[in-house]
Amino acid sequence: EPTKLWGGRFASGPAEAMAALSLSTHFDWCLAPYDIAGSRAHARVLHGAGLLTETELEHMLAGLDELAADVETGRFRPVVDDEDVHTALERGLLERVGQELGGKLRAGRSRNDQVATQFRMWLRDATRRVVAGVLDIVDALNAQAQAHPEAVLPGRTHLQHAQPVLLAHHLLAHCQALLRDVQRFRDWDARTAFSPYGSGALAGSSLGLDPQAVAAELGFDGAVDNSIDGTSSRDFAAESAFDLAMLAMNLSRVAEEVIIWNTAEFGYITLDDAWATGSSIMPQKKNPDVAELARGKSGRLLGNLTGLLTTLKAQPLAYNRDLQEDKEPVFDSVQQLELLLPAMAGMLGTLTFDTERMAQLAPAGFTLATDIAEWLVRQGVAFRVAHEASGECVRVAEVRGVGLEELTDEELASVHPALTPQVREVLTVSGSIASRDAHGGTAPDRVAEQSRRVTTMVAEH
Ligand code: ARG
Repeated sequence: EPTKLWGGRFASGPAEAMAALSLSTHFDWCLAPYDIAGSRAHARVLHGAGLLTETELEHMLAGLDELAADVETGRFRPVVDDEDVHTALERGLLERVGQELGGKLRAGRSRNDQVATQFRMWLRDATRRVVAGVLDIVDALNAQAQAHPEAVLPGRTHLQHAQPVLLAHHLLAHCQALLRDVQRFRDWDARTAFSPYGSGALAGSSLGLDPQAVAAELGFDGAVDNSIDGTSSRDFAAESAFDLAMLAMNLSRVAEEVIIWNTAEFGYITLDDAWATGSSIMPQKKNPDVAELARGKSGRLLGNLTGLLTTLKAQPLAYNRDLQEDKEPVFDSVQQLELLLPAMAGMLGTLTFDTERMAQLAPAGFTLATDIAEWLVRQGVAFRVAHEASGECVRVAEVRGVGLEELTDEELASVHPALTPQVREVLTVSGSIASRDAHGGTAPDRVAEQSRRVTTMVAEH
């Protein structure tokens, strides 16, 4: 006889297709440890309310310990008749402590407040693991930055050569985005740290239970203020799906650059063999699959967010079974990132940069034109005029097929009288980079400071 959490008013059991549709143990079984932790806390407040004797509490807790151990070793598993993780664990408890005592634990709680609480607990733990994985990537990028303090590359806008920058500055830009992702998880956690346990099905409990005590035992900052909200809101889930999608999106931008930098045309990087794949037909191939999977999975995580929001849209208060659809997209986003994050850290940490090629390309495409204009501004020329003059230098150099630094004294003077040979002091990549020394700029000292701050932020988490 399967354990049913309801049935008193039913003359028959569910139809086969009904039961198949209802089933969720194949994805919600990961909530089992949290369900049992909730049951322990609930047993204690039942005891506190005088609804379990001391001896009953002891037997209950012993039964739950045994159940937890059997779940952990896999000795206890859900069977097809268990609708969800909560039903399965109810059966497991009844098998261990008997129907009489086991049946008492259901008082004053509902799967609605249980699942809302356990989902929050699972996600709070999961996002801590995700954050650790993100920090490893930040570490890997920051280590590359520190290993290449002088390497330069053509910084780009519109994917066109724009101005030369330090490679370290470029890599640290990705660190900044990833550290904001980490902060976002922290902010989210502070809002999610409230327990719905004790909300019952929707209206709260009449049995003199103590939701705050349960919340404290389960590691929350407090209990939710509204039982209707506690059982039916899933903005914490949608928000985490966003945070996870945003993280994946940021990773896709790093990934896209790895893919481009790895082409023969760019030739900036070589992938370590351990983090690349070959082709089944073309023997020469070495493909950036880690980066491509990162790029691909970002679409999947965006889909998870979109799907979840669509499920939540327009649901009336309070709990509706639609809400069972909340978990798979978020679980999937976390699982994908748990696969992706270590691989990204490994790939990025082992990249070899062809710094010579990057240095060669850094001034190409007249990336120092802005430096001529700004040098003229420092000589008192209006920027509007300086911009024109620098543009003309580009035109002259382009016609003659030379770089800006190769323009003759006469060519410079004919473009603008203020363009003396001294302008050549900014017509080097290193001179240009060193001149951008305000806070946040690409000058070596500023970038070194930035890298140290990133190190500190990682250490503080
Ligand atoms: N398994 C459900 C969920 O994930 C919880 C059960 C609530 N079921 C119900 N009929 N009230 O949301």
